[in-house]
Amino acid sequence: MADDLTRPADTLTMSLFHSALRRDLERARILLESPGTLSPRRIRRLGRHLLWLMGNLRWHHEGEDHYLWPLLLERDPGSSAVLDAMKSEHDTLDEPLLRLESRARGLIAGRIGPSEVLTALDALDKPLMKHLAHEEGEGMAIVSRVLSHQEWNEFEQRAWIDGFTAAQSVRFLAWMADGVEWREPIRRRTGLSAPLYWSVVRPLSFIARVPGPSVWAGTPAARVKSQVASA
Ligand SMILES: [Fe+2]
Ligand SMILES: [Fe+2]
Repeated sequence: MADDLTRPADTLTMSLFHSALRRDLERARILLESPGTLSPRRIRRLGRHLLWLMGNLRWHHEGEDHYLWPLLLERDPGSSAVLDAMKSEHDTLDEPLLRLESRARGLIAGRIGPSEVLTALDALDKPLMKHLAHEEGEGMAIVSRVLSHQEWNEFEQRAWIDGFTAAQSVRFLAWMADGVEWREPIRRRTGLSAPLYWSVVRPLSFIARVPGPSVWAGTPAARVKSQVASA
């Protein structure tokens, strides 16, 4: 859109990503806390999903560290304390994140059980939730103050989207749309056309209930929604 050059960055996509991450960690917890209800096939599938999720989280962090924080520092050197905190929070998350990834591999290979994955999830959960909230508050406030929406789009493209294949992009977008309640203010901010919304995005919001594409289908985890702030 033409006014993207002048309007402040709208960081809805950051909220969508963070909310999808929170949603799936909550869903994973539900399954891991009731291992007796899970088939061996579902357990392996959960391990594969967690592995994919942690890979995406590292991709996300590295994109922010490499492209976003330096750009914001250049525009607003006075924000260095917040930007240093963002980077150091990512560094602190590395260890629990890699441990959960390793446990997810163990789950897939049948070397360990769900309770050991749950321990690793517990260790990651608290510092990650704290970081996401901090970034959505102070971090994104800087973004909206110093970047135009066009610059935000260009950052996302360079940091994250350009490295994806078409198939990876489709999987990622379906994952982000899963469980989102597209209230009108959120829908408007996406800029989605009505046909695209009704034919693609809205049906994807219910994908967790569909056996086949979803590891959560048929479990209580499928009812967990993506809580996206509409402010
Ligand atoms: Fe983020
Ligand atoms: Fe972050």
